[in-house]
Amino acid sequence: MAKRVVSGIQPTGNLHLGNYLGAIRNWVRMQDEVARDGGECFFFLADLHAITVFNEPAQLRANVRSMAAALIAAGVDPEKSTLFNQAAVSAHAELAWLLNCTARIGWLNRMTQFKEKSGKHREGASVGLFAYPVLQAADVLIYRATHVPVGEDQKQHLELARDIATKFNTDFATELFVLPDPMIPPAAARIMSLRDGGAKMSKSDPSDMSRINLTDDADTIASKIRKAKTDPEPIPADAAGLDARPEAKNLIGIYAALSDESVADVVARFAGQGFGAFKPALAELLVETLRPISGRLAELEKDPAELDRILAHGAAKARAAAEPIVAGAYSALGLTRETR
Ligand code: TYM
Repeated sequence: MAKRVVSGIQPTGNLHLGNYLGAIRNWVRMQDEVARDGGECFFFLADLHAITVFNEPAQLRANVRSMAAALIAAGVDPEKSTLFNQAAVSAHAELAWLLNCTARIGWLNRMTQFKEKSGKHREGASVGLFAYPVLQAADVLIYRATHVPVGEDQKQHLELARDIATKFNTDFATELFVLPDPMIPPAAARIMSLRDGGAKMSKSDPSDMSRINLTDDADTIASKIRKAKTDPEPIPADAAGLDARPEAKNLIGIYAALSDESVADVVARFAGQGFGAFKPALAELLVETLRPISGRLAELEKDPAELDRILAHGAAKARAAAEPIVAGAYSALGLTRETR
């Protein structure tokens, strides 16, 4: 069966290194291979997910555009992949409702991301934040995705998507939904904060020093890496020596992912050296990798009309692909839908 690759990103603020190494770089790497084999890629800005917490409307609209520009700058090619914003394809919201009636409250109660995001304020969280993984299931099931490139933090949501698909197919004696496989990169599954090796690099961290943004200039990158938390020990001789050293492990993991080497090879090369020697090498590699991306991003942002045109074109293609599946779901449930 030809591959159907589907993935999304929330249009909140900047693209950071965790997004890039954990997910976007894999989107880009898959798009050529998939097109060659007669498959298709669908990548979207998850604006319906973004509104599960308050977002200022004008800011949301601007973020959708700038995240689209960032994805294209990072290598997503709208000629090869279908790129769109989720809200422009109403089938996502429609299927999410139908799947809300298949998903069980007990399944959602186990979702660790909801627990982290709602924290002590569970009662005050939006219903949308709780049902968020059901919308995510709709996002991939609606295109009959076979492969979903994501970072490790999305694994549990994709397992839920598989459970929902299985229950729906069984309850309604259909083969409508395909079970998606998560594709999680081995080296960069979870990039951690530069200030705390126990927290993942995230857009919601209040400290900008905790993350590398794809728009950071060379001086900012060098300063963030110089100030990144480490320990006084030298780099060990083998990868196992990093096990109890989360900050050291993170920086070496970032280097390995950027240079497409194994952690073992990087450690072997820098063994015995301190982080004072390693950090400039890492900063240089980051600057080299990110400079062309931020250059392209600045160019793309000059032409918002072209970005809107790209997104509208992608949405039309996505609508056509999603329509038969959502119609099939209504029909499997015995519902009569508005004919389109
Ligand atoms: P989001 O917007 O938080 O992140 C986008 C992608 O980046 C990955 N990622 C990371 N990977 C490694 N290390 C990190 N520190 C790191 N931070 C983020 C995420 O795993 C993700 O792949 N719910 C999703 C968006 C979404 C989606 C979907 C994804 C909506 N529908 C359907 C896949 C399929 C989210 O909030 O990702």
